[in-house]
Amino acid sequence: MCPKDNKPEYAFIGRSNVGKSGLINMLCNHKGLAKTSSTPGKTLLINHFIINNEWYLVDLPGYGFAKRSKRMQQQLEQMIAGYILQRKQLVNVFVLIDKRLEQQKIDREFVDWLGKSQVPFCIIFTKADKLGVIRAKENAKKWMDALLDTWEELPPYFITSAEKKTGRDEVLDYIDHIDKSLTKEEEENR
Ligand code: GTP
Ligand code: MG
Repeated sequence: MCPKDNKPEYAFIGRSNVGKSGLINMLCNHKGLAKTSSTPGKTLLINHFIINNEWYLVDLPGYGFAKRSKRMQQQLEQMIAGYILQRKQLVNVFVLIDKRLEQQKIDREFVDWLGKSQVPFCIIFTKADKLGVIRAKENAKKWMDALLDTWEELPPYFITSAEKKTGRDEVLDYIDHIDKSLTKEEEENR
């Protein structure tokens, strides 16, 4: 179920266990908001969190979780695709990627699909504390550069850690910036 008001929505998605709930809680300063779990694949619904009464943070289920049945995975993917392609209020998708250096096929396919579908998105590299910021930055850059084999322009990206609160201001500033330009556009069209 999605809310009926027209507030802008910013969705977060990534492979199971990528640290999505941790990131959401870190962004909202709220430990128990999104359940972090040691058993991956917990989020099965589209969860909306209202922030500052201005915008919705949307928690999407993780893609590519092997332990789910095929049928359930397909149903989830349909639900995710339906939301991303049809939701008018959706402003930006944040795709979460874990710290591993090699690009995973499933992440790449998802990012390519967003590009082809012309959905605005950014990449967020999570759990930077596990690597240290310098290596996390190097890995992130390599991951992004690998997109250049088919992409002409790269989407924006952020490096975060829920543990250390790294990247919190950057992500929230980015959202705030879009929010302000949306409000301005609205006022001009009135
Ligand atoms: P599902 O909802 O189950 O798909 O997973 P998720 O992507 O929401 O991952 P979640 O935030 O629950 O984190 C998975 C595991 O990684 C948990 O054990 C977290 O404690 C850990 N974790 C999350 N964020 C960080 C982080 O920034 N740094 C470190 N070191 N661990 C993290
Ligand atoms: Mg989660």
